[in-house]
Amino acid sequence: MTHNSDFAIVAEGLRKRFGDTQALDGVDLAVRPGTVLGVLGPNGAGKTTTIRILATLLQADSGHATVGGFDVAANPADVRRTIGLTGQYASVDEDLTGTQNLVLIGQLLNLSTRDARARAAELLAWFDLSDAAGRVAKHYSGGMRRRLDLAASLVGRPSVIFLDEPTTGLDPAKREDMWGVVRSLVGDGSTVLLTTQYLDEADALADEISVIDSGRVIAHDTPDGLKRVIGGHRIRIRTNDAADVQRAVGVLTAVGTSAPEVSARNTITVPVADESVLTPTVERLAAEGIGVSELSLHLPSLDEVFMTLTGHTTEELPGSTSKGVAA
Ligand SMILES: Nc1ncnc2c1ncn2[C@@H]1O[C@H](COP(=O)(O)OP(=O)(O)OP(=O)(O)O)[C@@H](O)[C@H]1O
Ligand SMILES: [Mg+2]
Repeated sequence: MTHNSDFAIVAEGLRKRFGDTQALDGVDLAVRPGTVLGVLGPNGAGKTTTIRILATLLQADSGHATVGGFDVAANPADVRRTIGLTGQYASVDEDLTGTQNLVLIGQLLNLSTRDARARAAELLAWFDLSDAAGRVAKHYSGGMRRRLDLAASLVGRPSVIFLDEPTTGLDPAKREDMWGVVRSLVGDGSTVLLTTQYLDEADALADEISVIDSGRVIAHDTPDGLKRVIGGHRIRIRTNDAADVQRAVGVLTAVGTSAPEVSARNTITVPVADESVLTPTVERLAAEGIGVSELSLHLPSLDEVFMTLTGHTTEELPGSTSKGVAA
């Protein structure tokens, strides 16, 4: 039994059906205060539906959830005061400027005009939008809109923040900036639930990850724990010379826990027991006179984790319909 007071967000057995689609099929989540939960899943997995229920925008068919200790069904107003919600699709007013949008929200949250202006300026600077503060939102680029939308959700300094695919559509530099913002929010004590289809994003930001597929949580672990599910570290090398590949395979066979795999461009990968075999590997390669242009020790990617857990990659959906074999 989960003690709801120990968690900033709890969901137990959430189910939601839309017509023929069982969007959520019993979702369980628990997020400790001041941590980041990454909810990872492909298109249609149920990420947005989960957030909409937690944010009181949608009612579950069954199951229950609390946010900041408040029941989402029984005390939606208290939940709304606790959260910041960033929709997957921007929710700002297109005809208002960046500043006007944020000041308006501040005023709706009962900030004085002066405080609302100060908060707007602070957030616009934080999201690198100060130069665009006086322009109407409809003239913003997609990435600027995403950032304004996120800024809008933070005006009221929420203690629990839902971010639905916060970096979708951002270029790599802005994506890194957004990661920095998420880290600052958590550094200030906020709890963050973020959904993502980017495995590296969950790995980089989340304390724990729930992998969701077809409306169900199919795995919950730390990023490293998840990666360990499909084996420990791997060593990958690339020989300078194609003629050295066979001898290199011999070296990696000696240090690995199973047979090395040879892939394109003289690349050889082998699972190893732990990090300590890296040095002996380098020494043996040197002793054999095998030159390498690449040598790395890494955990399996989350993409590989997803493949192991679901039998399909994140790009490839299980089927065009989810109707199954209902009698
Ligand atoms: N209002 C709705 N009416 C009908 N079906 C819906 C509705 N909202 C969601 N669905 C369906 O429920 C399932 C889960 O949708 P959801 O939006 O939660 O997925 P998601 O994980 O957020 O996907 P994406 O990565 O594409 O945003 C999908 O099959 C979707 O088509
Ligand atoms: Mg979604």
